[in-house]
Amino acid sequence: MILLFRLSHRKERDKRITTHLFLSARIFNVKEIYYSGEKDSVLEKNITSMEEKWGKTINKIEYVKNPKLKMKDLKNKGYKIVHLTMYGENYKKVIEKLRDANLCIIVGSEKVPGWVYDVSDYNISIGNQPHSEITAFAVFMYEIYKCNLKIENIKGKIKIVPSPKGKTVIVNE
Ligand SMILES: C[S@@+](CC[C@H](N)C(=O)[O-])C[C@H]1O[C@@H](n2cnc3c(N)ncnc32)[C@H](O)[C@@H]1O
Repeated sequence: MILLFRLSHRKERDKRITTHLFLSARIFNVKEIYYSGEKDSVLEKNITSMEEKWGKTINKIEYVKNPKLKMKDLKNKGYKIVHLTMYGENYKKVIEKLRDANLCIIVGSEKVPGWVYDVSDYNISIGNQPHSEITAFAVFMYEIYKCNLKIENIKGKIKIVPSPKGKTVIVNE
C-alpha cells in the first residue's frame, strides 16, 4: 500500500496546492492520506465533496499532530519512509527497490526539518532543482507504477465519456 504524508500544511498559503496534491494522490490510487501542520477542515471537506460527486476512492484523510511519532509508528508497521526532496539521491537509482514495498511518501511544504531526513529510509529527488511538490509526487508515482496509471473505474454521480470534441457527461443522481 502507498500512503501520502503531507508535511507542515499551512491553511492559507497551501490551500490550493495541498488540495491538488490530494487530488493527484487520489488518481494514483492512494487510499490513505495523512497531513501535519495546521488542521484544515475546509481542505478535508473539499476533498470529501469532490469525491461525493466523482466517486469515493480515498478511505482516510487524517490530521496528524505529531508527525515524528506517526512516522515511527508507520515504520514499525513495515512502511518504508520515502521523503521527496531536491537534496536527495535521484529516484532512478532506487525506484526498483521500492516497487513492491509498502511506502509512506512524504511531501514537504515550508522548510523541511532535519529529523525528516534522518527518519526517512530514502531521501529521493526528482532532479536537483526546486519545483512543485505536485510535479515531484506525480513523477515519482508514475515511475513506481511503471507508467501504468492506476486509474480505476471509479463509480461516481458524474462520469465523463471520452470524446474527441466537446463534452459528454453522464450524470447518475
Ligand atoms: C516547494 S518545495 C520546498 C522545499 C523546502 N524549501 C525544503 O527545505 O526542502 C516543497 C516540496 O516539494 C517537493 N519537491 C520540490 N522539488 C523537488 C525535487 N526536485 N525533487 C523531489 N521533491 C521535490 C519536496 O517534497 C518539498 O518538500
